Amino acid sequence: MWACPHCQLALLPIGTGESLACANRHAFDRAREGYVNLLPANRKRSLEPGDNPLMVAARRRVHEADIYRPLADALVTELAGLSGVSSLLDLGCGEAYYCDALARALPDCTLCGIDISRAAIRLAARRCRSVDFAVASAYRLPLLDEALDAIVRVFAPADDAEIVRALKPGRYYLEVSPAPRHLWQVRALLYDKPREHAPPRMAVPGLRLLGQAGVQYEASPGPELVWDIISMTPFAYRGRPERREYLQRHTPAAVTMAFSLHLYCRDA
Ligand SMILES: C[S@@+](CC[C@H](N)C(=O)[O-])C[C@H]1O[C@@H](n2cnc3c(N)ncnc32)[C@H](O)[C@@H]1O
Ligand SMILES: [Zn+2]
Repeated sequence: MWACPHCQLALLPIGTGESLACANRHAFDRAREGYVNLLPANRKRSLEPGDNPLMVAARRRVHEADIYRPLADALVTELAGLSGVSSLLDLGCGEAYYCDALARALPDCTLCGIDISRAAIRLAARRCRSVDFAVASAYRLPLLDEALDAIVRVFAPADDAEIVRALKPGRYYLEVSPAPRHLWQVRALLYDKPREHAPPRMAVPGLRLLGQAGVQYEASPGPELVWDIISMTPFAYRGRPERREYLQRHTPAAVTMAFSLHLYCRDA
């Protein structure tokens, strides 16, 4: 289902499948880990776009502690409950915590994940051998038009028109966003005037809202994990060493984890 990032024609395996190429002979080799890089060098805004290796490693440690497991379970339940989903994209998949949960729950579904961070995709591809991963921009998806039955996006940037374009008519888009009080106790420690997250949006141009749900629970990450949570997110204070020391001594006993799930579909 990948499309050439240069000319938008379908990319097909050539030879023994170690490379993909379009009819115009633009070719892309698979990396050792099995992913393919579909981000042309001239579209990179920086040398290392997206999450850097330290952020990716912090996110992996947080996910290994499973404090996002109730969210993964909710996401899987939501997607597994949809009928006729045989192809699914995780948009901005990071190191593939949710892809992994989806691959286990939906073994007959063709899963793919994209992220602009090579460090994230490298770890993702090592984790889930059955998922097809590409380094790519969410603002210009290397996907054919109407390629997918479902797209899920968990806290990642995206372009609405690209989401609509890549979905088959009548098919699904699940958007997961932080609810206003998500990580509130961490925010309260970091900022003099902590602010809630903005309420999640309720509409996406070109899509119809089918339903919404909330997931909220308390987690008890220790000081190291709190620091990893900070390191994997764009909190402004994380660069200050004195903050780290302070947080070691004032780790909150419980941290609110709060998310909103919005399910949309493209009109048939
Ligand atoms: C907050 S992380 C979420 C990762 C994953 N969905 C998760 O929840 O574990 C945001 C992700 O978006 C990726 N990202 C940032 N800009 C992007 C872009 N323009 N296109 C694709 N991915 C992007 C980052 O590299 C990062 O992995
Ligand atoms: Zn091409």
